[in-house]
Amino acid sequence: LSTIEVDVSQIPAGQAVKTEFRRQPLFVRHLTPQEIAAANAVSVASLRDPQTLAERTKEGKSQWLVTMGVCTHLGCVPLGAAEGENRGEFGGYFCPCHGSHYDTAARIRKGPAPLNLEVPEYAFTSDTVIQVG
Ligand code: FES
Repeated sequence: LSTIEVDVSQIPAGQAVKTEFRRQPLFVRHLTPQEIAAANAVSVASLRDPQTLAERTKEGKSQWLVTMGVCTHLGCVPLGAAEGENRGEFGGYFCPCHGSHYDTAARIRKGPAPLNLEVPEYAFTSDTVIQVG
């Protein structure tokens, strides 16, 4: 199976990029301190798919959120990776197909999607490069 490398050094805090991994959209997002704080302020037990930001990121790298760009409802591509796109009510991603709102940890918060955006297998190969897959 193929792997890809993403150089994250050109992604400023507050922005995300959309790329492709195994023919599906992949989002790499550089969270701001405020977005990290917002994710950590949520009561995990209240979540539909309970996961902490720490469980969804790598240790010491919680500002880098790497997820598939595939809504867990019926597979549309959520908005929010490109500049100026609607990020939904929780500031993460928004799926316009049937109105699923994801938060800054890409966890489902409102709408029909059952699960958080999937975090693929990946690893940092240097401070600024990730290998996905
Ligand atoms: Fe995203 Fe239905 S496919 S809300």
